[in-house]
Amino acid sequence: MKNGIIFLSFLILLTSCQKKLSKQETIAYQELGAEITKSAGKELTTQLTQKLSEGGIEHALTFCNENAIDITDRIADIYHADVQRISHKNRNSVNMASSEDLDIINRFFNDMQNNKELKPILDGNDSFVKYYAPILTQEKCLTCHGVVGITMNKETDSIIKNIYPTDLATGFQAGDLRGVWKVTFKEKIHENIN
Ligand code: HEC
Repeated sequence: MKNGIIFLSFLILLTSCQKKLSKQETIAYQELGAEITKSAGKELTTQLTQKLSEGGIEHALTFCNENAIDITDRIADIYHADVQRISHKNRNSVNMASSEDLDIINRFFNDMQNNKELKPILDGNDSFVKYYAPILTQEKCLTCHGVVGITMNKETDSIIKNIYPTDLATGFQAGDLRGVWKVTFKEKIHENIN
């Protein structure tokens, strides 16, 4: 019992020691998060569009399968942060949302329902920082994420299901929340920014 109380007090002390981020730090992480997700998104879109025009959907699919995570990893190396695309309806199991990610995704769903503007969410204190930004479905995404037999070709779906047998990432409409960017900062911001 006594030990339990000592342990509990220690825990409370430990958690109360975690300082909240200062306003300046919050702004700096938000800016860096936006910069990282913007450049990763741009690179993915550019490459995807190029592959689609070069060799059609099948070619683009192989590209996504082999390179999407490489691209985010390369950007992650430059910024010393983990960069992921996470989804509640994921195609690649690596991108499956954890319960903590789902809490954030549900906050975005709530905001959408209440017609609120979706703003990136920063979660953290001085020991960890995560940045989440919404990824919305656009018309051009429907070729590979749309409603099978309506906005998405059945053949495309079967090629995808061959590569990703547990694929959940179809049935989307333009404007739907497709998932989130998640940036986990590995270094404190002052070490990161010159
Ligand atoms: C040519 C087909 C194709 C198109 C077009 C496409 N995607 Fe994907 N998408 C994929 C594939 C394949 C994966 C799995 C990539 C991997 O293995 O990491 C994927 C994965 C994702 C993921 C990661 C989460 C998950 O489900 O695994 C997100 C988010 C995503 N796509 C969003 C989009 C958005 C937004 C668009 C439109 C701007 C888009 N995609 C257009 C094929 C496509």
